[in-house]
Order: sequence, then C-alpha cells, then structure tokens
Amino acid sequence: MKTPIIAPSVLSADFSDIISGIKQVNNSGAEWIHFDVMDGSFVPPITFGSKMAADVRKHSELIFDVHLMTEHPHTHIEDFAEAGADYITFHPEAAVHAHRIIEQIHKTGKKAGISIVPSTPVSAITELCPFADIILVMTVNPGYGGQKMIPECLYKVSVLRELREEKGYAYLLSVDGGINEETSAAARKAGTDVIVAGTAFFGAENPSEAVSRLKGL
Ligand code: DX5
Ligand code: ZN
Repeated sequence: MKTPIIAPSVLSADFSDIISGIKQVNNSGAEWIHFDVMDGSFVPPITFGSKMAADVRKHSELIFDVHLMTEHPHTHIEDFAEAGADYITFHPEAAVHAHRIIEQIHKTGKKAGISIVPSTPVSAITELCPFADIILVMTVNPGYGGQKMIPECLYKVSVLRELREEKGYAYLLSVDGGINEETSAAARKAGTDVIVAGTAFFGAENPSEAVSRLKGL
C-alpha cells in the first residue's frame, strides 16, 4: 500500500485567524491544502471565493487543491487559476458540459478534477475519466465538515483504481469527508492517492502526528 498525500481542508480552520491555520498545515508534513468553495446553492453553506486562495498563496508553497461545490462551475475557473490553484475540481452533477469545463481548466495550465457525491455512480463519469487529472470521491454529502464517513462510498475508489489500471488512465484518486485516523485505513486499502481531512487535522491536538497517522505511518 502506498503512502497517501494529505490535504487538510481549511474549512475546519478558524476563519478569523486563517494565517495560523495555514502555518499549521505548512509545518505538518501535509503536502496539499484543500479549499472547499461553497456557493449556498449547490450546497447550502457559503464559504469563500478565489480571494481566499490568492491571499493564502502568499503564505504557502504547498499544492492548492480547490474543490468547487458550486453551480455554474465554469464561471469560477479563471479566477481560481489566477489565484494560484494547482488542481481545480468541480462536480459534474452541476454541469451539463463537463468535458468542456475540463478543457477550460486545462487551458489555464491547471490540473482538472471531477468529484462525485455519494449518490452519483462511477458510471456517470466514465466518459470523463480519460481527461481527468484527479477524481475526488466524496464519502459524505457535501456542505459540512465533521460528518460521519459513509463507508459504502469507498468501493468507488477501488472501481476507479481498477479502471485506471485497465485503461492506462492517469488520474489521482482522492477521498473527502469523514476521514479520520480510523477511517483512513479503509481509504488507504481502497487505494486512494490523496486523503482530504478537515476535522481530523484542525481538531487534532498535534496536527503533525495526525498527518502521520492519516498516512498510516
Ligand atoms: C465537505 C467538504 C470536505 C470537508 C471535510 O463538503 O468537501 O472537504 O472539509 O471535512 P471533514 O474531514 O471534517 O469531514
Ligand atoms: Zn472538499
């Protein structure tokens, strides 16, 4: 089993002291920072837009993993690219022309991701798989940190891993939602490359130790 990349989600950081949260991530051994962008429509809460990523970019050289939980994702691509995102992931459930949005992301020079909610089957994204740089399998219904993982979603990671192998695709696999030190073992076993963790990172007494344990070290 290979060691996954850890992407702490700033959703669980203290927004009134975001710089402390970013420094915690920078010094923790995590390789990525995950930005949960919520628009109050695709999901009920509203979080932040590209300015957050642009401001944080001055304080971190980690990989920026932007997760758009928004309607009309195509309207946000260039803004996040300019803000310094490395991966821009959107939900095909919110887009008819998902392939075009992947091309749009690639035109900005960034990596393109697609994410599916628990009720979306892998078959809904099979046609997009050859074009994706990352596939984010949600293991909770999006919108909130601190939820309990739905373990039934993890088989999708195994299915997508086998499909990647069979077809020679290049995407990374990521899991997001309710991943903690216990549930991360099942995610690693399913073959995930990236683990997103909000509560398990920012709620930990020692975030560096949490990162090691999420990696299974
Ligand atoms: C949920 C977000 C997640 C969230 C995960 O809608 O996409 O990235 O931050 O938080 P935890 O790890 O607390 O479930
Ligand atoms: Zn997320």
